[in-house]
Amino acid sequence: MASYKILLLPGDGIGPEVAHEAEKVLAWFGRAGLGTFETETDLVGGAAIDAHGVPLTEAALGLAKAADAVLFGAVGGPKWAGVPYAVRPEAGLLRLRKDLGLFANLRPAICYPALAAASSLKPELVEGLDLMIVRELTGGVYFGEPKEIVTLEDGQRRAVDTQIYTTGEIERIAAVAFDLARKRRNKVASAEKHNVMKSGVLWKDVVTRLHAEHYADVGLEHVLADNCAMQLVRNPKQYDVVVTDNLFGDILSDVAAMLTGSLGMLPSASLGAVENGTRRALYEPVHGSAPDIAGQNAANPLAMIGSLAMALRYSFGLSDAADRLDAAITRTLAGGTRTRDIAGTGVNAVGTGEMGDAIIRELEAPA
Ligand code: NAI
Ligand code: MG
Repeated sequence: MASYKILLLPGDGIGPEVAHEAEKVLAWFGRAGLGTFETETDLVGGAAIDAHGVPLTEAALGLAKAADAVLFGAVGGPKWAGVPYAVRPEAGLLRLRKDLGLFANLRPAICYPALAAASSLKPELVEGLDLMIVRELTGGVYFGEPKEIVTLEDGQRRAVDTQIYTTGEIERIAAVAFDLARKRRNKVASAEKHNVMKSGVLWKDVVTRLHAEHYADVGLEHVLADNCAMQLVRNPKQYDVVVTDNLFGDILSDVAAMLTGSLGMLPSASLGAVENGTRRALYEPVHGSAPDIAGQNAANPLAMIGSLAMALRYSFGLSDAADRLDAAITRTLAGGTRTRDIAGTGVNAVGTGEMGDAIIRELEAPA
């Protein structure tokens, strides 16, 4: 039986609560004989600051590098609001992204039939929605230099951010999108603004060339990023995979997220380069540490459990197991089991642990 090494970094607030449910599900897959899952657990974020004075120790980073996949909860909270910027809880996550080279952020937007009414759009526009935003995560305007605020001679201040992309950076993110599309509905929409940005001109050019050379079998559409935002709220089901840069991806993935209901439902994956046949990867819910509900057994663990499903699919190649887990989530919701964030009025909410148990019951049920 294949064996997989997983590093659990539960973090702060509801992070440990939702990570515990993912661990329960993982243990179930182990018992079911799908693989040997060797887990290690370490501290990150505020929890690591409290214990070690830094948001990520070198030892934890080493474990992350040695793991086949990292399952990350969430970091941060008011307790650490006063710590110096360089060692704030979020710096632990940024360090992981940087040192693992996680350049591709995958954010699925799936609308479960049972939750279509919770969408910000009309149910018929989102029912059956299943799209994937692929956001470039390590380049672009968030990192480009110069990045500064300078005072001019006339006393005004001027702020500069710099959008930079190389052909190599564009190629590798586009390749991730095309590869994903081949396993889905075989369509990619590439979003940029070549009408006003040089980086957009290069983006479109590189994607067009890569498509012609290696992915001509995949449907490709170029769309201006602002139009893409409109299309996402007008008719989101037209898309399969949307690939875009760091800044546009930040915004478009948040737009797509709200089509599907609660923050407690949204998983994500961040993938790095393939080295020696394996790809570095970190899986985490989109939400933060939710200090307002931490410790109340109220957090929805499905974003974290959905992130585990992505790990099964993208890091371990266990797509049957991933399908089975996704189906268990769908059936659990269809059966009316809801945590507080997704329970409409008149529906009794269950706790974090009960939601995890319900998922395991559905996994055990014959499909
Ligand atoms: P948040 O995502 O933690 O919470 C926003 C709202 O959504 C809250 O009302 C919360 O109760 C609710 N919520 C979030 N996840 C939920 C879940 N699984 N089930 C039910 N309800 C859920 O964002 P917020 O409040 O802006 O930030 C709180 C802390 O988290 C801050 O310290 C922030 O820096 C940090 N954060 C960390 C992230 C990470 O670790 N990747 C991402 C976003 C924020
Ligand atoms: Mg965002």
